[in-house]
Amino acid sequence: MPVELLHPDEDRFFNFALELVKKAGRLVRDAFDQPSSNVQTKASNTDLVTETDQAVEAMLIKGLSAEFPEHKFIGEESVAGGQKIESVAGGQKIVYSDAPTWIIDPIDGTTNFVHRIPMVAICVGLAIKKELRAGIVYNPITNELFSAQVGRGAFRNGFPIKVSQTEAVCKSVLLLQIGADRSDKIVNPFIESFKATMVNNDARGHRSFGSAAINMVYVAQGSVDAYAEYGIHAWDIAAATVIVREAGGIVIDPTGAELNVMGRKVLCAGTKKLAEELSGMLTHVEFVPEG
Ligand code: IPD
Repeated sequence: MPVELLHPDEDRFFNFALELVKKAGRLVRDAFDQPSSNVQTKASNTDLVTETDQAVEAMLIKGLSAEFPEHKFIGEESVAGGQKIESVAGGQKIVYSDAPTWIIDPIDGTTNFVHRIPMVAICVGLAIKKELRAGIVYNPITNELFSAQVGRGAFRNGFPIKVSQTEAVCKSVLLLQIGADRSDKIVNPFIESFKATMVNNDARGHRSFGSAAINMVYVAQGSVDAYAEYGIHAWDIAAATVIVREAGGIVIDPTGAELNVMGRKVLCAGTKKLAEELSGMLTHVEFVPEG
């Protein structure tokens, strides 16, 4: 069956971005082996940014906007730098429109990058009419390039990938991760959720790779069975969401509701049954959506 496109040039958008991400990979790889003291903090002591994050995001946005001048961007470092945000009651909102929009994390796993742990990813997602349509997640250190377009399947270095078929937490390797936000609002429910899945229900194992996108693509390729996190942002999950879904998995709000990519929380799993069981064990946290 031919894939229904939301824009006649979707394939061109995707192929152009794929080549650009490969080029960006060289920047990340070169910087990885040259420890730099140029590490700054953003919202808190645990929220890091390096000159490589900034250079990679600038390179991606420059390249994509030169080719597609009408496209919009939501980039981790641009947003953190105060652009593309409007103030609303209860917080700030990212401007998210129906236009083709590239959702970019130049280095997901910045703390790993700074500590030279090779679990990092360049993430480029494409949304059209607010629908996630394509995703690229590239770890240039391990040379793993994950990609997907809606209706076309998910791939790792060009080979198709599939999620695991595990249906029970007791047979699963789970990823429950905590990010930069260490407020009680996030930490206390995390501890409860961790206990619920590990102590009472005996998941087979627990991992956490320090990059939301790597966590998700490892679900996509069936290495691990499910992942959940509260406090993440659109740029951490947009690209990998398409990859997990195209690999046959599900990506939802941890409560079981439909995913809101701006909702700051995610649960993904290889099977619906596993997602439902895990959802029932988590202590949920609510956020004001960012866009
Ligand atoms: C972070 C990583 C981390 C996750 C955080 C993210 P960054 O992104 O994905 O694993 O726990 O929630 O913010 O800051 O390295 O791009």
